[in-house]
Amino acid sequence: MAINGTQGYRPGLVDLETGLISREIFVNDDIYAQEQERVFARSWLFVGHDSQIPKPGDYFVSRMGEESVILCRDRAGEVHVFLNSCRHRGMKVCRYDEGNTAVFTCPYHGWSYGTDGALVGVPYFREAYRSALDKAKWGLVEVAQLCNYKGAIWANWDPAAPPFLEYLGEFRRFLDLILDGWDGREGQAELLGGVQKWLIPCNWKFPAENFSGDSYHNISHRSVDLVGVGPSGKSRRDYGELNIARKLHVALPDRGHQTITYLLPKDHRPQPVYQNSPEVAEYFRHCDAERRKRRGANDRLLGAPGEIFPNVALLPRQPRTLAVWHPKSAHQTEVWRFYIRYSGPAGMTEQDDMENWNYAHAASRGVIARRHPYTYEMGLGHAREDYEFEGYRVPGRVIDITTAQASEEPMRNLYGRWAQFMEAESWDELMTWRRNDHTPRAPLESVAAK
Ligand code: FES
Ligand SMILES: [Fe+2]
Repeated sequence: MAINGTQGYRPGLVDLETGLISREIFVNDDIYAQEQERVFARSWLFVGHDSQIPKPGDYFVSRMGEESVILCRDRAGEVHVFLNSCRHRGMKVCRYDEGNTAVFTCPYHGWSYGTDGALVGVPYFREAYRSALDKAKWGLVEVAQLCNYKGAIWANWDPAAPPFLEYLGEFRRFLDLILDGWDGREGQAELLGGVQKWLIPCNWKFPAENFSGDSYHNISHRSVDLVGVGPSGKSRRDYGELNIARKLHVALPDRGHQTITYLLPKDHRPQPVYQNSPEVAEYFRHCDAERRKRRGANDRLLGAPGEIFPNVALLPRQPRTLAVWHPKSAHQTEVWRFYIRYSGPAGMTEQDDMENWNYAHAASRGVIARRHPYTYEMGLGHAREDYEFEGYRVPGRVIDITTAQASEEPMRNLYGRWAQFMEAESWDELMTWRRNDHTPRAPLESVAAK
């Protein structure tokens, strides 16, 4: 029998049949190292937004997995993502967070790179190198694939990965909720202000699963709910809409993306209550009417927290914000939140959440603790693949939680996909592997050996 914590990933640590998931996948350093290769070096990752680099020479330093990358617009206006590491001896080429430049000059020995990544300057090229270095071979390392979808920029290190939209699959309509304008015009989102970044002492999967659709943790946010803070001076202004909608958990099994969503009835739509000011109310009424025309049936979907595999969380409505959970070690995550108000460490609810994730991680690391799996049994066996409400067919596996309040289908979906990435050798497997095919192939050592 295997001794816990002394080896890496093995099939069975994620068991979707029973809903049991081993704590090892959160706290084991070997599994973490494997996941950098198998998940982060193969997945489409969010690196930034078009509106952060509007002019040629603009750059924004981002991250992909553990590594620093430079998102920049070259002189011809083309967007690139480069590994932020000098080809000579690995020095971090760009140490600013953002700015505008003609070249990136390495602080160590002074090699410089154009905004298109080409190596354009090498000190003592003629004398020391005798002009023999082939500069064309030593440009910055560039991602294998890049996609600008409605202004959101995604990148992938794996040339074999499918195009972003195929990777996204039917989740596109949920991503659109955060990228389109309030009046329904496509890709109208713009990033306001900077990015708030902070460290939390837990595995990146704790926040990822929470934003996948944990509608069960209301007790954590009791204080802010009791106070009812909001610009109206009362509580949320969209309860009129939310209360007549079906509340759903939607999980795409062959993609690993999942979300909470609200689906409105076909013909009944109350006017949302906006500010008391008539001008503002009129503006929102106008936007609502336009959006209904532009989005058609999809306008019945109201956004709520969701997660694009592996580490991007969406809040498409109030507040409209996006977060990325960058892994730093098995035991530490760097959170980047793009536009904050309600969210962030100084917001209303994120500090409650972080306390849970951080203490949960620490309390799961011990040799005894990690022998005992977590349970994700809630709603097991209740998801449907043909969910329809008043003529609107929702894609993926769906659990209607209007009265049930919660399920753990989104988390089972996240970890099912994660396990597929840990096991699959090829994209062929990854793109055809349905969730139900993925049953444990070996006995659950750590889970069964209680
Ligand atoms: S490490 Fe960059 S020039 Fe030497
Ligand atoms: Fe929360």
